[in-house]
Amino acid sequence: MTSPAAILSCSDLSIGHGHRVIMAGISFALAPGKILAIVGPSGCGKSTLLRALSGLDDPQGGNTSLLGIDLNVASNLERESILRRTGFLFQGSALFSSLTLLENVEMPLKEFSQAPRREIRQIAEYKLSLVGLADAMDKLPSEISGGMAKRAGIARAIAMDPEVIFLDEPSAGLDPLTSGRLDDLILKLRDTFKTTIVLVSHEIPSILRTADFCVYLDPDTGRMGAYQPPREFLLPNAHPKAHAFFARAQLPT
Ligand SMILES: Nc1ncnc2c1ncn2[C@@H]1O[C@H](COP(=O)(O)OP(=O)(O)OP(=O)(O)O)[C@@H](O)[C@H]1O
Ligand SMILES: [Mg+2]
Repeated sequence: MTSPAAILSCSDLSIGHGHRVIMAGISFALAPGKILAIVGPSGCGKSTLLRALSGLDDPQGGNTSLLGIDLNVASNLERESILRRTGFLFQGSALFSSLTLLENVEMPLKEFSQAPRREIRQIAEYKLSLVGLADAMDKLPSEISGGMAKRAGIARAIAMDPEVIFLDEPSAGLDPLTSGRLDDLILKLRDTFKTTIVLVSHEIPSILRTADFCVYLDPDTGRMGAYQPPREFLLPNAHPKAHAFFARAQLPT
C-alpha cells in the first residue's frame, strides 16, 4: 500500500529483532498533515514499529516509504535528509544527562542547521516554552521529573520544525492537565504547522481527541489487526479486540 500522495506508507511490513518476527502484515498509507496513533497491548511491537517507520531500524521485510524515500534502497544522503526532516521522541526520552534541557534541544540545531548560535538559542528557548518548560531550561535531566523529561524530549523532537514527528508514548506518566496541554500542542503542530505526527499511545481518550487514523497491532495473530479512524473502533462491528481495547478505556472508573 505504498502511495505517491502519502508522506508515510508501508506495504506488508514485518518487524522484529534478530531472527524473531514479532508483527507482520502491516500496510497503510498516511497523507501529509495527519496524526496516526499506533496502539496495542504492551510488548506487541509498537516501539519497534515506530523505529522501523522512521528509518532508525531496518524491518524484517516489506516496503516503507517516508517523505518520498523508499527506505529499502535509501542512500546515506537520503537517510541524512530524513534525519533532518523528522523528529523522534524515544520511550525513555533519551536526553543527554550531562547537558541542560536547553543544550539538549540545541543539539539537533547545532548538528543540522547553519543558523548562528544566538538564533539556535532563541529557537531552543521557544521550543522549550511551547512545552511549558520556560522555567527549567538550565536544569539537568537528573533534576527534573519524568513528565518534564518527556516534554523536553518533545521540544528536542520539534527543534528543527520537522515535517514528520515520531513520538513514543508522549503522555505516559503525565498528569491529566499536562497531558491535555500536550494534546493541544500536538493538534497545534498538525493544524498550524501541518506537521505529520505518528505516535504510540495507551491513552484512548487522547487518541480519540487527536488522531486521524489508528493502527491496531494484534499480538494474538502477530499481524496488524486494523487501520482506520479511531472513532470507528468504538462501533460494534469493529475488529473485536481493538473494539474491546477502546471500549474498555471509555468505561467510567
Ligand atoms: N532491542 C531489542 N532486542 C531484542 N528484542 C527486543 C528489543 N526491543 C524490544 N524487543 C522485544 O520485542 C517485542 C516488542 O517490543 P516493543 O518495545 O516494540 O513493544 P511495545 O509494544 O512498544 O511495548 P510497551 O507498550 O511495553 O512499550 C518485545 O517482546 C520485546 O521484548
Ligand atoms: Mg514501547
